[in-house]
Amino acid sequence: MKKLKVNLKDRSYNILIDKNLKKDFGKLIKEVFNGKKICVITDDNLNSLYGDFLSDVLKSEGFLVNVVSITPGEKSKNFNTVIPIYDKLLDFNLTRSDLIVAFGGGVVGDLAGFIAATFLRGVKFIQIPTSLLAQVDSSVGGKVGIDIDRGKNLVGAFYQPSLVLIDTKMLETLPEKFLNDGMGEVIKYGCIKDKSLFERLSIFRDKIEFLENIDEIIYTCCDIKRQVVENDEKDTGERMILNFGHTLGHSIEVNYGFERYTHGEGVGIGMYLITKISESLALTKPKTAEKIKNLLIKYNLPFETCKRVNNEEIKRSILSDKKNLEGNLNVILLKDIGESFIYKTDISFFNGLEC
Ligand code: GLY
Repeated sequence: MKKLKVNLKDRSYNILIDKNLKKDFGKLIKEVFNGKKICVITDDNLNSLYGDFLSDVLKSEGFLVNVVSITPGEKSKNFNTVIPIYDKLLDFNLTRSDLIVAFGGGVVGDLAGFIAATFLRGVKFIQIPTSLLAQVDSSVGGKVGIDIDRGKNLVGAFYQPSLVLIDTKMLETLPEKFLNDGMGEVIKYGCIKDKSLFERLSIFRDKIEFLENIDEIIYTCCDIKRQVVENDEKDTGERMILNFGHTLGHSIEVNYGFERYTHGEGVGIGMYLITKISESLALTKPKTAEKIKNLLIKYNLPFETCKRVNNEEIKRSILSDKKNLEGNLNVILLKDIGESFIYKTDISFFNGLEC
């Protein structure tokens, strides 16, 4: 088993990574939680695959367990889902000394974390991420939240979990599209902080070899995220580098109505296109965008949109992004693979955009 500790004073916690960790979930949770009741928040896909198993391993440690399942997908990440779950927690008499477990991908993690942060002004919670995207990124660092009509993740909090349990074997039941989705974030970690991760991803013969090394890869990504979050928990400085590719990626997702591209696909396109711009401005070492493009192709991710998008539309959504403060835009760029920096600019930076 691989172990990392996120050092955040009284909000510190461990990340445990292993194949087949699920048989030990109950025991590992008992080590950090000495209360009685656990409410597991999950989605219908995962509930049908693992719901009974998870209830049984938790009950075998003496916990009282209630499972609440939501419809899978981003469309559930809003107040319409949250309010009935608060009612279910009240029906179960969950108190502030009990526990919420987020068992699922990014949507479940963000939503369950948001409920944990707000119900009774805060209930302890544990992340059990099941998708690659959640295992390498969203389950670590305490960003929890929901979407509202005017944008994604516009309501939320920084609320750290008490433990993150990563069973890498669970990725075997993840549909291909969602594995590719997580690859966007894995490649991002190589780009922003770790040239050797980027090179290893380039060298793997195929997806099989990649999956054989998945524990190590997830450990590397979580370790990078750990360092960044420890330095800047509340996202006012260094943590912004985790958004490499996200400004454009998010705008592309929005412009396609969230139907055509997954988050990871949008990030992949965003990383390539922004690097093309920064290369043309001599801010990035030549040929960096091409290296990113080749890696995206290798892992079945798009590097450009399927039809030309109106640049003005893209710029409009960049301007409405919550990270864009009063016309000042922080974009994340690479000097080279593995070396990222925050570049202060304005929307004219995107004048040369070709997407
Ligand atoms: N996923 C970006 C962050 O946690 O800051």
